[in-house]
Amino acid sequence: MEDGPINVADFERLAAEKLERGPLDYFAGGAGDEVTLRENAEAWGHWRLRPRVLSGVREVSTAAEVLGRPVELPVLVAPVAYQRMAHPEAEAGMARGAAAAGTVMCLSTLSNTRPADVAVAAPEGRHWFQLYAFKDEGVTRALVDEAVGSGFEAILLTVDAPPGGNRERDRRNRFTMPVELGTPGLTAATGGREALSIEEIFAQMNHSLTWADVGDLASECEVPVFVKGVLTPEDAELALEHAAAGVVVSNHGGRQLDRSLATAEALPEVADALAGRGTLLVDGGIRRGVDVATALALGAAAVLVGRPALWGLAAGGQEGVARVLELLREELELALALLGCTAPSQLSRAHVRRAPVASVYSV
Ligand SMILES: Cc1cc2nc3c(=O)[nH]c(=O)nc-3n(C[C@H](O)[C@H](O)[C@H](O)COP(=O)(O)O)c2cc1C
Repeated sequence: MEDGPINVADFERLAAEKLERGPLDYFAGGAGDEVTLRENAEAWGHWRLRPRVLSGVREVSTAAEVLGRPVELPVLVAPVAYQRMAHPEAEAGMARGAAAAGTVMCLSTLSNTRPADVAVAAPEGRHWFQLYAFKDEGVTRALVDEAVGSGFEAILLTVDAPPGGNRERDRRNRFTMPVELGTPGLTAATGGREALSIEEIFAQMNHSLTWADVGDLASECEVPVFVKGVLTPEDAELALEHAAAGVVVSNHGGRQLDRSLATAEALPEVADALAGRGTLLVDGGIRRGVDVATALALGAAAVLVGRPALWGLAAGGQEGVARVLELLREELELALALLGCTAPSQLSRAHVRRAPVASVYSV
């Protein structure tokens, strides 16, 4: 028998043993009845794989390109707020784990570590910055400037929040983010000294952003800007019209609008609309290498994982993150081999079809 965790679900159990109720529910939970949270994971299982045999596959590589630069696996680490609640290594540990796995780490605006410090902690890593826009444009600009100045390669502008979703687990637990953990990047950008509470932060965010704002940001920014939180082809089209480099098909891990489309459902029509224009990314409910293979076959250039990386961090800091990503890499490598592909770039629509309806309910 193998010792230790052998898949993402094992890491989730380990993390649940380590975390207290409040943080665990904050990390694991979703909005409302958590329909979207559940469907995100289930919907990847609504697709079946069409392996091609006897293609003489010998060497399989999970290496891919994102924004024209190589990653060792097309699984990026999604931006997740307040990582010091998961582990003392916080975002530095997450960044080092991602770097060890040869992939990109996205840092949240709501991070307990400054972009400059993440860059120092994992100098060999690739980093992107997740941006929330603020009412005071100077704050938004200062956030972008620190990230770009610290070598971050792209901005993910999150557009499915604020306002924050209805997280009933947090309400029942009377949970709020511990102010003392601090959001130093944001504190610096606002020119303050004291750490802000999450309520104060959300109150300062721009709740009425428009496509024109996306256009302004994307045209002023020195690095590519992605729109994160798109679920329709209409909005994906608008994102490209407003100078975005691409979109992240995402519903914020089921934490915002409950009953919004599962991302595996939204992805194919967005991919059809973009038809290869821009960079298409997706997140939500990716837990297995076969989920990654399905997403790539449906047209994504890469996927992001939020909770799986977080469970790795909570369970074992930087090493836990690296291990989770390595498990996903091994699973993806095996899936590719059995599909008859030598690299992620060989995956196409020909490798997937809808599952028979009856089986969808027994996933
Ligand atoms: C605890 C938690 C905090 C998050 N914080 C942010 C955030 O600060 N900014 C953001 O754009 N997305 C945030 N997300 C959403 C993730 O970036 C990502 O879209 C989502 O986690 C993907 O789903 P998955 O967790 O099923 O992989 C957060 C998700 C979780 C679980």
